[in-house]
Amino acid sequence: MVSPHCGVREPRRPRPGSHGQIEGYAVGFEGTALPKSVTEETVVSVRHYTDRLFAFRLTRPATFRFRSGEFIMLGLMVEGKPLLRAYSIASPSWDEGLDFYSIKVSDGPLTSRLQSIGVDDGVLLGKKPTGTLVLDALKPGKTLYFLSTGTGIAPFASLVREPEVYERFDRVILTHTCRHVADLAYGQDLTAAVMDDPLVGEEAREKLTYYPSITREPYAREGRITHLIDSGQMFEELGTTPFDPAHDRVMICGSMDMLKDCCERAEAAGLEEGSNARPGDYVYEKAFVS
Ligand SMILES: Cc1cc2nc3c(=O)[nH]c(=O)nc-3n(C[C@H](O)[C@H](O)[C@H](O)COP(=O)(O)OP(=O)(O)OC[C@H]3O[C@@H](n4cnc5c(N)ncnc54)[C@H](O)[C@@H]3O)c2cc1C
Ligand SMILES: NC(=O)c1ccc[n+]([C@@H]2O[C@H](COP(=O)([O-])OP(=O)(O)OC[C@H]3O[C@@H](n4cnc5c(N)ncnc54)[C@H](OP(=O)(O)O)[C@@H]3O)[C@@H](O)[C@H]2O)c1
Repeated sequence: MVSPHCGVREPRRPRPGSHGQIEGYAVGFEGTALPKSVTEETVVSVRHYTDRLFAFRLTRPATFRFRSGEFIMLGLMVEGKPLLRAYSIASPSWDEGLDFYSIKVSDGPLTSRLQSIGVDDGVLLGKKPTGTLVLDALKPGKTLYFLSTGTGIAPFASLVREPEVYERFDRVILTHTCRHVADLAYGQDLTAAVMDDPLVGEEAREKLTYYPSITREPYAREGRITHLIDSGQMFEELGTTPFDPAHDRVMICGSMDMLKDCCERAEAAGLEEGSNARPGDYVYEKAFVS
C-alpha cells in the first residue's frame, strides 16, 4: 500500500501574463496558443491518494455554469496542441472551485503528465459541461442509489453535496467498490467532509449512507456491487428492499462491464432508463473508455 501524501507544492511554472488574441485562439500556457473552446485554469491544490489515484482543485471561471453530476473536457497543452479527456466534475454546482478525482495511467497520454501538476500550474478546462448523471434525468422518488466503482465515484462526489438531492429524496445511498482498501480513501474523506458540511451536513447525516466494498483483499465488506445486489446483502444491510420503480432511483458510474451488469439489474427490476429529455428511473455514465 502506498501512503497518501498531501501535495501543496511550490509553483513550478509562472502564470501566463496578459492574454493576447489571435484568430480562433487565446494566448496562454507560457505563451502557447489556446483554442477558444477552453480556458486555462490554475491548480489550487493537489492530493495524491495512491500510486494510481489523485485529486486536484482548479479555479473556476466566473462564467462557468454546470449541473452537479456533469463532466467536462480537461487537459494540458502537449507539443503545442491541447490534449483533452472527459472528467466528471467532483464538486457541486454551488462551489467556487472545481474538484476532480483522477486515475494515473503510467502510459496514458494525459494522466502520465497530469499526475505531475502542482499548485499554480495551468490546466485546460472545456467550456461545455454535459452528462446524464443529473437530477433532471430522474423522476421523483424516495431512495436514490449512487452505484460506483473506481473513479466512477467522481460525479457522486458532486451530487452528495448538492442540496437538491436531499430535498428530493428521503434516503441517499453511495456505494463504492474498489479492488484495494487504499482505493477507498477518497470516498471515505469525501463522506466525512459531507457529514460536516455547513450547507448539507445536517441532511446528509440524516439521509446519506456510504456503502463501500472491496474485491481483491480482505475487508469488512467484500464483493462486487452486483454480487451484493444479487445476494440481497446490500438491501438487508441498508434496511431497504430490492430495487422497485415505485420508489427507487439509481445512478450508475463505472467501467463498461460494471455499467452493463448494473443496468441489467436495474432493467430486470423494472426500472426505466432516463435522460435529460425524458426523466426515468435510472441513468448511467462511463467512468472511462476501455
Ligand atoms: C464521461 C467520462 C467521464 C470521465 N471522468 C473521469 C474522471 O472523473 N476521472 C478519471 O480519472 N477519469 C475519467 N474519465 C477517463 C478519462 O477521460 C481518461 O481516460 C483518463 O484521464 C486517462 O487518460 P489518459 O490519456 O492518461 O489515458 P487514456 O488513453 O484515456 O486511457 C488509457 C487506458 O487507461 C484506462 N483508464 C482510463 N481512465 C481510467 C479510469 N478513470 N479508471 C480506470 N482506468 C482508466 C483504460 O483502460 C484506458 O483504455 C472519464 C471518461 C469519460 C468517458
Ligand atoms: N485498481 C488497480 O489496482 C489496478 C492496478 C493495475 C492496473 N489496473 C488497470 O486499470 C483498469 C481499471 O482499474 P480499476 O480498479 O480502477 O477499475 P475496475 O477494473 O473497473 O475495478 C473497480 C472495481 O469494480 C469491480 N468490477 C469490475 N467489473 C465489474 C462488473 N462487471 N460489475 C461489478 N463490479 C465490477 C472490480 O471488481 P473485481 O476486482 O472483481 O474485478 C473492482 O472492485 C483496469 O483495466 C486494470 O487493468 C488497475
